[in-house]
Amino acid sequence: MSNLDGKIILITGAAKGMGATEAKMAVERGATVILSDIIEDQLEATADSLDSAFSRLDVTSKDDWEKTISQILDDHGRIDGLVNNAGIFIQKTLFDDAQEAFEAMAKVNQLGTYLGIECIAPIMRDQESGSIVNISSVAGLRGQRNIGYVASKFAVTGMTKAIALQLAKFNVRCNSVHPGAISTDMALGLGPSDVELLTNKTPMGRIGEPEEVAEAVMFLLSDAASYLTGAEITVDGGFIL
Ligand SMILES: NC(=O)c1ccc[n+]([C@@H]2O[C@H](COP(=O)([O-])OP(=O)(O)OC[C@H]3O[C@@H](n4cnc5c(N)ncnc54)[C@H](O)[C@@H]3O)[C@@H](O)[C@H]2O)c1
Repeated sequence: MSNLDGKIILITGAAKGMGATEAKMAVERGATVILSDIIEDQLEATADSLDSAFSRLDVTSKDDWEKTISQILDDHGRIDGLVNNAGIFIQKTLFDDAQEAFEAMAKVNQLGTYLGIECIAPIMRDQESGSIVNISSVAGLRGQRNIGYVASKFAVTGMTKAIALQLAKFNVRCNSVHPGAISTDMALGLGPSDVELLTNKTPMGRIGEPEEVAEAVMFLLSDAASYLTGAEITVDGGFIL
């Protein structure tokens, strides 16, 4: 089990779904977690249930990032981990008049991840330690029909490698996690027939649980992953195969 004793960790999109599960697991493993999201009621309830702090952070707003990070530094003096988990999926293909959806997914999934990295990288560089975990997708490794989602998640995969290269000499690691279909609102919202399709396409014959992704995230945040950077970790029941 990955040990996160004493680590200060910021997780985006943590009100529910995988982000909430990651927050719970990190707290159980000894971390101080700051949960963030835009759905304020649910964020507060989830944070309260974990006896943790929370911050309203829209990942597309640099101002929100700066305020949240400045508060964490005032409270704790450092940040050991960032999980760029917040994301959206809008079901559109090229022939669905998809520009608006394309731009929305680029803004949250790509720009949101970029802004988090841009704001936190100088802090981790100066403290000469840190781990950034970017939640991409199997759609960030191979094609699917949703052009906007695929483009945004390939961007996350690529940014991870650029940042890993730039920060390696400062002992700061950056890795991407690539979930397959996972049992949260995002995948379940596709409806029963699409979930069945995804299940059938998954060699392990089932969709995954948020805890199964969170385990990989905990490992990457921990010192057990001290020589691991720029990697793509799939948690997908073999989907990508
Ligand atoms: N569920 C899956 O099958 C699956 C598969 C691959 C990748 N992913 C990725 O995993 C991550 C978590 O998704 P999930 O499945 O838990 O979905 P979810 O919809 O349950 O949770 C996503 C969270 O992100 C938050 N969010 C959305 N826009 C935001 C913004 N602008 N700023 C801050 N927070 C924002 C939402 O409020 C929500 O709490 C996403 O990046 C998603 O793309 C999910």
